Amino acid sequence: MKVLAGAVVALSMVASIAAIAHEGATGVIKERMDGMEAIGQQIKIMVPMMKGTLPYDPEQVAKSAAIIESHSGETFTALFPEGSDEKPSEALSDIWDDWSKFTALANELNSKATDLKTVAENNGPEDDFKAALGQVMRTCKSCHSDFKE
Ligand code: HEC
Repeated sequence: MKVLAGAVVALSMVASIAAIAHEGATGVIKERMDGMEAIGQQIKIMVPMMKGTLPYDPEQVAKSAAIIESHSGETFTALFPEGSDEKPSEALSDIWDDWSKFTALANELNSKATDLKTVAENNGPEDDFKAALGQVMRTCKSCHSDFKE
């Protein structure tokens, strides 16, 4: 119950932030921002479990990992037609200069999310959960530092 309440609060907070960030975004840009927001929400749900401020909940982690999985890989890169970096997008044009690196990172996010989901579905130990989530979060950082404003 506590976990649920926390997740609901986090979700509503993120939703109001997203509404501001998305103002004016349309088409694929809005779609990929929405996907990234959905991913961000899942991270916000899991980080307290990683820190130990909420109990590790494998069922929730499996759900969150599946959502990240569904917004990564080719599903994500398909939303980046060449040159679609106009405002309010925060995408950098380097995406199309180094498309293979960008797609590799999107695929890496997909496979790390699958790893995380597998740990959770098998009711794996908390330390494995933390390690797998850490891997997912490293991928966010790698891609954002190269390809996002
Ligand atoms: C393959 C590259 C890549 C990976 C991996 C990636 N992101 Fe992103 N992310 C982007 C790009 C590019 C944008 C900017 C999109 C735009 O504004 O058009 C973005 C934007 C965002 C945004 C802002 C969305 C908005 O409302 O404008 C959030 C939040 C976000 N990412 C969270 C995450 C998290 C959390 C992870 C890891 C679990 C992650 N991202 C992994 C490339 C990536």
